[in-house]
Amino acid sequence: MKIVTIIGARPQIIKAAAISRAIADHFSEHITEVIVHTGQHYDDNMSEVFFSEMNIPRPQHQLSVGSGHHGEQTAKMLEGIETVLLSEKPDALLVYGDTNSTLAGAIAAVKLHIPVVHIEAGLRSYNKSMPEEINRITCDHCSTLLFVPTQQGIENLLKEGFSLDAKGQASIDRPKVFKTGDIMFDNSMYFAEKSRESKRIADVLHLQDKNFILCTIHRDSNTDHAENLNNIVQGLLRIQEVSEQTLVLPLHPRTRKKMTELLSPELMEQLYGHGGIKLIEPAGFLDMISLESRCSLVITDSGGVQKEAFFFEKPCIILREQTEWVEIVEHGTARLVGANQAAMVEAFMAFQESNSYTYPPLFGNGRAAEEICRLMLENL
Ligand code: UD1
Ligand code: UDP
Repeated sequence: MKIVTIIGARPQIIKAAAISRAIADHFSEHITEVIVHTGQHYDDNMSEVFFSEMNIPRPQHQLSVGSGHHGEQTAKMLEGIETVLLSEKPDALLVYGDTNSTLAGAIAAVKLHIPVVHIEAGLRSYNKSMPEEINRITCDHCSTLLFVPTQQGIENLLKEGFSLDAKGQASIDRPKVFKTGDIMFDNSMYFAEKSRESKRIADVLHLQDKNFILCTIHRDSNTDHAENLNNIVQGLLRIQEVSEQTLVLPLHPRTRKKMTELLSPELMEQLYGHGGIKLIEPAGFLDMISLESRCSLVITDSGGVQKEAFFFEKPCIILREQTEWVEIVEHGTARLVGANQAAMVEAFMAFQESNSYTYPPLFGNGRAAEEICRLMLENL
């Protein structure tokens, strides 16, 4: 079977490592993968670093689309991916998650009658003002095989008319839905081992285990709205003050840029001149895992990072009003606070008061990628 895999944004490049590893280790005689990089993310620390440290095969096609408005960026990707699909003639197209690269891949393939395989299908925030929600819904409804990481994802799809009982050959009109667990859990477990093998950023920054807080921010609703961004930074400063812990912020390029444009001069000065706050470049995955496994708590608006907090058994303050990963909130180890500084501090205090949290295996057994490869071979 020949598949074309579309990647482009940081989380997809990371996710691709799990499937490429499963193919190399167990299915190399049966599956050939052609990787297309849309170029949505292009800085070395948003793209290249993951290929080198996670052993991901180099893309055979680089579309170099770069940044732009949603329509402009997606249209360029759509055109580039269509050209690749016409020449590669794959048996299926594989996409991950919910970015513009995912959307472009799904639309390009479905119109060419190439089966779309969606990994991380079924997730919903039920907030259609998020670009990702539109991308996920559209992609799921263009898909022939939907691989769902969680039970909540299955329930979301059932509400939209998908069935778990499709019989016979899978097709766009008879899509098949499977709960497989989460390939990011596979990756976290696999690379946690490797990240312990060498000196990592937590050592370079002289961070003491369980005495620092890890924070990432990049969601457009937080970065591109002055009020939200200023509120979040005020909340972070307050949490740093009450916790007396170092706050480590690997800054997404979007966030660094928007902080310069939208933060008040006073907050800018406090943030950049603060001895207890370390603003660093985007981290590689091994560094990120090291930070996640050694910190005391995570504050984030990232989909991937909130889940990794759970994998590494850390409480998490989610800088959003909703999440697709509702299980971790329902379980009590994550709290949704939006961009509200009072709610951020309240959540922090609540986590300080209890340390009796549990982290049950909600995301599979660490072998989701193998299961997905097996199901692709069986159903396409
Ligand atoms: C995208 C995804 C989001 C995902 C995130 C992961 C969409 C609609 N959004 O958001 O779902 O959570 O990736 O990180 O697909 N930039 C650089 N260098 C880079 C990449 C980006 O400087 O290598 C800057 C540019 O100014 C760009 C901005 O970041 O305009 C935003 O990049 P973009 O890919 O459009 O969206 P993300 O916020 O990264
Ligand atoms: N990540 C990383 N370095 C960073 C921030 C995040 O390697 O500085 C990893 C993180 O560990 C997770 C993935 O990127 O695996 C999540 O991607 P991101 O937060 O960019 O997007 P989202 O998951 O919200 O779509």
